Amino acid sequence: MIFLHSCLAVYVLVICAKANVLERQARQSGVFRFANYYQNSMVLQRAPTQANVWGYAGSVAVGTSVNVNVAGKDYTTTVQTSPAGNVWEVKLDAIAAGGPYTVTATSSGQTATLTDVLFGDIWLCSGQSNMEHPVHRMDDPDDEMNNAGSFPNVRLMNVPHLENAQPQYDVSSIALPWQRASRNGVYWFSAICWLFGKEIHRRQNIPVGLIGSNWGGTRIEAWMSPEARGSCNADTESIQGPNDPSHLWNAMVHPFLPMAMTGALWYQGESNRNNAEQYACLFPAMINDWRARFNARGGTPGDFPFGFVQLAPWRNQLVQTGFPDVRWSQTANIGYVPNNNMPRTFMAVAIDTPDYNSPWGSIHPRYKRPLAERLLYGGLNVAYGDASVRHQGPFPTNFTLDGSTSSIIITYDNGQTQLQFGTSGPFEVCCSTSDGATCGDAGTSWEAAIVSEENASSGVTITFSCLPTMQSVVGVRYAWQESPCELNNCSVYSVENNLPAPPFIHNGLIG
Ligand SMILES: *[C@@H]1O[C@H](CO)[C@@H](O)[C@H](O)[C@H]1NC(C)=O
Ligand SMILES: *[C@@H]1O[C@H](CO)[C@@H](O)[C@H](O)[C@H]1NC(C)=O
Ligand SMILES: *[C@@H]1O[C@H](CO)[C@@H](O)[C@H](O)[C@H]1NC(C)=O
Repeated sequence: MIFLHSCLAVYVLVICAKANVLERQARQSGVFRFANYYQNSMVLQRAPTQANVWGYAGSVAVGTSVNVNVAGKDYTTTVQTSPAGNVWEVKLDAIAAGGPYTVTATSSGQTATLTDVLFGDIWLCSGQSNMEHPVHRMDDPDDEMNNAGSFPNVRLMNVPHLENAQPQYDVSSIALPWQRASRNGVYWFSAICWLFGKEIHRRQNIPVGLIGSNWGGTRIEAWMSPEARGSCNADTESIQGPNDPSHLWNAMVHPFLPMAMTGALWYQGESNRNNAEQYACLFPAMINDWRARFNARGGTPGDFPFGFVQLAPWRNQLVQTGFPDVRWSQTANIGYVPNNNMPRTFMAVAIDTPDYNSPWGSIHPRYKRPLAERLLYGGLNVAYGDASVRHQGPFPTNFTLDGSTSSIIITYDNGQTQLQFGTSGPFEVCCSTSDGATCGDAGTSWEAAIVSEENASSGVTITFSCLPTMQSVVGVRYAWQESPCELNNCSVYSVENNLPAPPFIHNGLIG
């Protein structure tokens, strides 16, 4: 299992110690308390969304009234039976960013208390090992770790690896309990999640709660409900372990539905390189399903923002299948997001972050900082509504063939974007024996093209050569390799925010 994340023994011990405490608590019948993921120093979702809090009744009888006090206001509910056991739950008023508050629940003389609770924005950070990739494994972790304690209003919580055949209503244990950011807290916390959350906190001046719920080496089918998988006719074959369909959805996402949150971040896809085309259905289906279910159960907006990282390079080899196909599928075959199939999404392009010598394996590039920065731009624009923040790299809008020079002028963004250029990130054209062919048919072939001219206000000119028998051009593609670019050195970037042009494939006669 090359994608399996290797944990240090000490980390496993910490998880196990916490797990034991929670399991002991859960076994104590008669304990009136909050659900496992409601803890001291947590963040509850701020206005305009209404947060929910819930907990276990313990020995308090069904039908008994429960009083919850938050920010000087009382909320009353009663104990009810539910799939999670005998529980109580209240929906709070929409509460503006701020705190700290104490949250108390009382019933029949028993009291449960949460202290140091903030209202702010909650982001759920999920996916496989590149989301799991912790701060201390970045290329430049020291300042990040040493300064983490300067952000006490960024709060972290990490879910351990959990899987289950049935939907779960709570997390059975917690790896990193809710806590203020600190050196020790961020050490094993997702670098992408931390860097993004810290900057959202700084720029929006609100508390931010980050939930890490991710597992290395896992495919998307494990993170999807059976219904979402069914909509794509996905694999239903049972596999032992975390990749069993829906097992991670059941144990690591489903428990959070009642809680309200702001949005999700996602870095996954490496483990789907063998069904890359199907990912174009699976990924939007998962996003839409998560949105619908978080909305229906807990009132998180049904179009909550969803940001993700497009796959980074892997090996230093000329491989043209797998990763390039997943990258295209990650945009629902459009090339950029948001688009009609993927509204309110944002994407960090990562093709210029190869790390062939990463001590964690080249599948785990250490360069997470530029990716978090690109996600931040997307988050500010898509999630926080600042339309002035550029978050998309340049994208081609026009291909003009000059047959006499065997060249194609590629115009980006209708000439509206100021461009800058690097040296790698290859272009190819598809030569064909006939105008009507689709690239890939007999009588077609991809041929390398060179950049013969760069125009900072409009685009590039590429020059190519086709066999004498193949004088039609029926496709153009860019960066269609597992590892298409040198570090920070793809062919085309925007000047504003230094955003790389994403990979693209254009099928159709170029005339
Ligand atoms: C796009 O291509 C078409 C047809 O080749 C051409 O008429 C048009 O002027 C081009 N637009 C730009 C912005 O280059
Ligand atoms: C760059 O492209 C623009 C728009 O097509 C054109 O007006 C300009 O002359 C070009 N610049 C150069 C140096 O070729
Ligand atoms: C990109 O690569 C070229 C050729 O090796 C080099 O001249 C240039 O400095 C590189 N640019 C960056 C940003 O690394």
